[in-house]
Amino acid sequence: MSPGSASPGSASPPDGISIRAAVEADLPDCERIWRDGLNDYLRRLNQLEIPPENPGLRRLHAHTLATDPDRFAVAERDGRVLAFGSAVRRADVGFLSMLFVDPSDQARGVGRTLLERILPAGAASILGTVTDSLQPISNGLYASLGIVPRMPLFNLVGRPRVGWTPGPLPAGVTIEELATTGGGDTAAPGTVAFRAGVAAEVAALDREVVGYEHPADHAFMLHERPTVFGYRAADGSLAGYGYTSPVGRIGPVAVRDPELLAPVVAHLLTAVEPRGASAIWLPGGAGGAVTMSLDAGLRFEDFPLLLCWSRPFADFGRYIPISPGLP
Ligand SMILES: CC(C)(COP(=O)(O)OP(=O)(O)OC[C@H]1O[C@@H](n2cnc3c(N)ncnc32)[C@H](O)[C@@H]1OP(=O)(O)O)[C@@H](O)C(=O)NCCC(=O)NCCS
Repeated sequence: MSPGSASPGSASPPDGISIRAAVEADLPDCERIWRDGLNDYLRRLNQLEIPPENPGLRRLHAHTLATDPDRFAVAERDGRVLAFGSAVRRADVGFLSMLFVDPSDQARGVGRTLLERILPAGAASILGTVTDSLQPISNGLYASLGIVPRMPLFNLVGRPRVGWTPGPLPAGVTIEELATTGGGDTAAPGTVAFRAGVAAEVAALDREVVGYEHPADHAFMLHERPTVFGYRAADGSLAGYGYTSPVGRIGPVAVRDPELLAPVVAHLLTAVEPRGASAIWLPGGAGGAVTMSLDAGLRFEDFPLLLCWSRPFADFGRYIPISPGLP
């Protein structure tokens, strides 16, 4: 594989290791490898370890396995799973969601072989991922495929300080809730779905701002973070949307005009009072929202992650991704 080409070569797994498509029964093993892989180097860096239970991670794995079953693979030896990788394909963007190798089998080519299996090949594909800034191996491995770290992704956590109020939205912008329980275009009874007509508006905004539409990810998010606000311009068109939830996690957020991003995040910080802290992953490209969040009283949590891509795919001055594992 030549650097920068982002096209696969022909790595093969070390002796005794085979690679196959993942199935749902593999997900507990994937969670174990994820936790062990992270803890192995977080411990050495004197960072806090990953907690034993990660239900959000399990739901993300189940979602990416459901949408991209051909891009979720495990490596095993003698029937024991020792590594896994998952990627999603949205239009011409291939995004590496997860790649983890059991610490005792790292640095032997397993990670590279898994990548070749799950990332789309060919010059037409745009490849992206998010890495830990403290991890030279993953940053080196992905950059060798052209997927180069380009932008920090900050985890901002906390609650607005007492007395802080969000600034005004631009003149003429109005707010409405975009989702409802039952009803909507496609909702089964009891599920949260967009109101009639909204899915098409959201898809059009996503095509413009993110580079692709991703209705399956919105269905996942409506389940995970069921309060989604729409921001309408004076002419009634959808100028932005943003998700929040009582758990405190905010995003994704997309806006047509970059000037709307910070005011929308400010609104989301106060629109739903979470049980604990608010938390939001803000790309460096969303500078105004970063400054606004700090001013509100949120703080940087841990070290930044790094958004990586072979070619640009989303406008991170107008888009806040779902999570580091799903753009
Ligand atoms: C990152 C990880 C998935 C890579 O898998 P792996 O099987 O260990 O990696 P491989 O042996 O296939 O490839 C590693 C590549 O990185 C390169 N590399 C290692 N350290 C490097 C450095 N400091 N600078 C540049 N490249 C480096 C190696 O040379 C190798 O490339 P090569 O195939 O050309 O020799 C694995 O180490 C892991 O699970 N780490 C802990 C968890 C983690 O950080 N996951 C990724 C989160 S972003």
